[in-house]
Amino acid sequence: MRLSEAKRDHYRKLARKQGFRSRAAYKLLQLNKKYNFLAEGNRVLDLGASPGGWSQAASDAIGEKGFVMAVDLRPVNVNRQNIGAIKGNVFDDKTLLDIGDGFDVVLSDMAPHMTGVWEHDQMRQENLARRASEIALRTLKPGGSFICKVFDGEGIVELVRDLRKGFDFVNMTKPKASRRESSELYVVCKGRHVN
Ligand SMILES: C[S@@+](CC[C@H](N)C(=O)[O-])C[C@H]1O[C@@H](n2cnc3c(N)ncnc32)[C@H](O)[C@@H]1O
Repeated sequence: MRLSEAKRDHYRKLARKQGFRSRAAYKLLQLNKKYNFLAEGNRVLDLGASPGGWSQAASDAIGEKGFVMAVDLRPVNVNRQNIGAIKGNVFDDKTLLDIGDGFDVVLSDMAPHMTGVWEHDQMRQENLARRASEIALRTLKPGGSFICKVFDGEGIVELVRDLRKGFDFVNMTKPKASRRESSELYVVCKGRHVN
C-alpha cells in the first residue's frame, strides 16, 4: 500500500471509530487546531457540507449554544440539534435567501464532480471558491473567518489578492489529512473588515 493510501485508510478508519460522516472531518479539525477560528456559541455556515464530517466537527467545537447551517446539492443527514440543513445549489438566489446572514465563520469544502480533465476541473473549482468568497463577504459578521478549499493553480493568486482586501489575515495551508498528491489547498481568512 502506498503511503498516501495508508494515510487515507487511517483517517477513514478513525472517522468510522469516532462517528464522523467523512474522513474530511480531520482536515477541519487540523485547520482549526492551527488557526483557532471556531469558538463556543458561533454561528457557522458550511458550504458543500455533505456527507457531514465538517458540520459534525464544527458542531462539537461550537457547542449547544452555537449553530451550523449545512448547505449542499446533496442531503446532509446529520441529526443534531445545533445543525440545520439546506439542500440547494450555492449559485441559486433562492439558496442564498434561505441561508440568511450574520455568521461568525463561513466554511467551504465545496468541490466539483471530477471529470479527470485538469483544466476543466480546476476552472469549476475556481468558480466554486469565487462563489464561496462572495457568500462569505456578504454573510459574515465583522471580525468573522472564512476557510475555503481551492486547487493549486494560477487562479488562486488573484483570489488571495482579492481576499486580502476583505480580511486582516489571509494564509494558504494544507492540513496533514489532505493527501499530498492532491492539489487541494485551503485559504484561511480571519478578521473580516467592517464595511
Ligand atoms: C468534498 S465534498 C465535502 C465534504 C464535507 N466537507 C464533509 O466533511 O463531509 C464536496 C461537496 O461539495 C458539494 N457541492 C459541489 N458543488 C456545489 C454547489 N454548486 N452547491 C452546493 N454544494 C456543492 C458536493 O455536492 C459535495 O458534497
